[in-house]
Amino acid sequence: MRRSLVIGNWKMNGTRASTQQLLGDLLAGLGEKALTGEVGVGVPFVFIPQAAEQLKNTGILLGSQNVSDQDAGAYTGEIAATMLREFGCSFAIVGHSERRLLYHESSPEVAARYNKAIEHGLTPVLCVGERLEQRELGETFNVIDEQLTAVLAVAGTASFLRAVIAYEPVWAIGTGKTATAEQAQAVHEFIRQRIASEDQHVAQAVRILYGGSVKPENAEALFAMPDIDGGLIGGASLDARSFLSICFSAG
Ligand code: 13P
Repeated sequence: MRRSLVIGNWKMNGTRASTQQLLGDLLAGLGEKALTGEVGVGVPFVFIPQAAEQLKNTGILLGSQNVSDQDAGAYTGEIAATMLREFGCSFAIVGHSERRLLYHESSPEVAARYNKAIEHGLTPVLCVGERLEQRELGETFNVIDEQLTAVLAVAGTASFLRAVIAYEPVWAIGTGKTATAEQAQAVHEFIRQRIASEDQHVAQAVRILYGGSVKPENAEALFAMPDIDGGLIGGASLDARSFLSICFSAG
């Protein structure tokens, strides 16, 4: 049985004060009910030390929104996996569509970042997903396959025992348009089958999250699907009540 996981991707939002407030509200809310699933927050790099302090011994997982494909050296603007580990991160989001599309990170580059996270014991949360025009051309599965294959080639199938996958259709991110539970399930099933074509055991173990306009109103239907193991939440993760409600929907 896979344990559910809900991660808030804060993207480039917040201040010192709002970070403290939001984490405080989450801790208070999560303290009220017992959860069987896991909860995490992916915060902007500069808020990681502060968040690590506040989340110490709480059970809420802390992560970053990217990680370098290098260990150290002349890579201006990059943050190494070892640095993230030293500051209390247990996961790093990699290959988010905003990184792929706005900052032109290619699938091989995303795979290298994923691999570096694995190498240093940081759980990569690998994002995959198609753009609207790709879906309309019937290319969804080809796109996802290319994104997964790049990672399988570099890091191997067994690495997925120490990773999480997030399916985020680009057309559903920040648009208010969610994939229906059935549309999402079909792609999650495809992802699990792609991994199963390499290794059945790994495919059954890996958690696949759905992301793209998840809200309190649609979370339950999405999480009820057999291959949807939780969510990667953008906008709604910035509001404590909404995020808590989504976490409780996951169980
Ligand atoms: P929204 O929930 O704002 O659509 O964002 C989804 C996302 O990109 C999470 O990584």
